[in-house]
Amino acid sequence: MGYPRMRRSVLSVAVAGVVSALSLTVGAQTTAQNAVNAAYTKYRNLQEGKNADYIPALAKVDPNLYGIALVTADGKVITAGDVKSEVSIQSISKVFTMARVIEDQGPAAIENRIGVDATGMRFNSIVSVELAQKVLGGPELNPLVNPGAITTTSMVQGATSDEVWRKILGTYNDFAGRQLSVLNDVYKSESDTNQRNQAIGMLMHAYGFIKSNPAQATDLYTRQCSVGVNARDLAVMAATLAFGGRNPVTGKQVIKAEYVPNVLAVMATAGLYDDSGKWLYHTGLPAKSGVGGGIIAVSPGKFGIAVISPPLDEAGNSVRAQRAITDISETLGGNPYVVPVRTASPVGTSGR
Ligand code: DON
Repeated sequence: MGYPRMRRSVLSVAVAGVVSALSLTVGAQTTAQNAVNAAYTKYRNLQEGKNADYIPALAKVDPNLYGIALVTADGKVITAGDVKSEVSIQSISKVFTMARVIEDQGPAAIENRIGVDATGMRFNSIVSVELAQKVLGGPELNPLVNPGAITTTSMVQGATSDEVWRKILGTYNDFAGRQLSVLNDVYKSESDTNQRNQAIGMLMHAYGFIKSNPAQATDLYTRQCSVGVNARDLAVMAATLAFGGRNPVTGKQVIKAEYVPNVLAVMATAGLYDDSGKWLYHTGLPAKSGVGGGIIAVSPGKFGIAVISPPLDEAGNSVRAQRAITDISETLGGNPYVVPVRTASPVGTSGR
């Protein structure tokens, strides 16, 4: 994506202070609502990108569907556009299955079995698996590309496929704060056309990354990608990560706060696939995209945000979502690497 030139100013730093400090006040809410409205209007008529079509059902989704939701620390949901229509969660699901495995087995389980490094390759690259196995000699993938994601799904524990599925969906429900369900047309469409993912599952099994039935892991992975979500759901899921694993709308602690930085680190490293570095360079936000058209992003301690708009760029990331989130975060001071500039006090004199 072509990013607009960064325009960080004294004003945006001042606004950042206001928003973080006044998340409960009407003034801060107005600032956030105005930012969301402005981004919605600015990109509503943007006609760049194209729906994913390698999963036939995704090509049929209305490309004009466009909604933005932002959730604050006190569980306020600020929206613009269509935040009710559902699309399939697709790769955004990978974050929450990873969170489940980290919660149950600890961060080392993911690091040791799969890895937490960027591959620099497409999300369904088989070469990246060969490279990890033959050249790098170990766990040099991550849970947000398909080989790592199918392996992550295989690590969710349960006596039967149904039990594993209930755990996966239950986790997504807790993050979203409501009961979600599978979009069956998408599940069927992807199941009929996912031979490449089936091959990846088999390969991951052959190389010992997957230790259980690879066909079951690929099927559950396909099902998890077909879960229906709207922009509001995704924003609440993002906000649960923004506020230490506690859903700010329901109040439920979904994963331990101490594990959230691990989840965010993988999102920062690999959330937008081979454009992850560019995204982080411009926004500083841990994020995750899906080919259904959704992107979630997390400003730790400040807000969770999600945008749904199906047309994607070459890297597989929603065009409108990237632009809208970049603008809104810029206005609200969401970049966690930006700190307000202080007037320096001479060393040894401060605090006296
Ligand atoms: O496995 C797949 O190809 C899809 N179910 C998910 C891919 C995806 O969302 C990648 N996103 N940018």
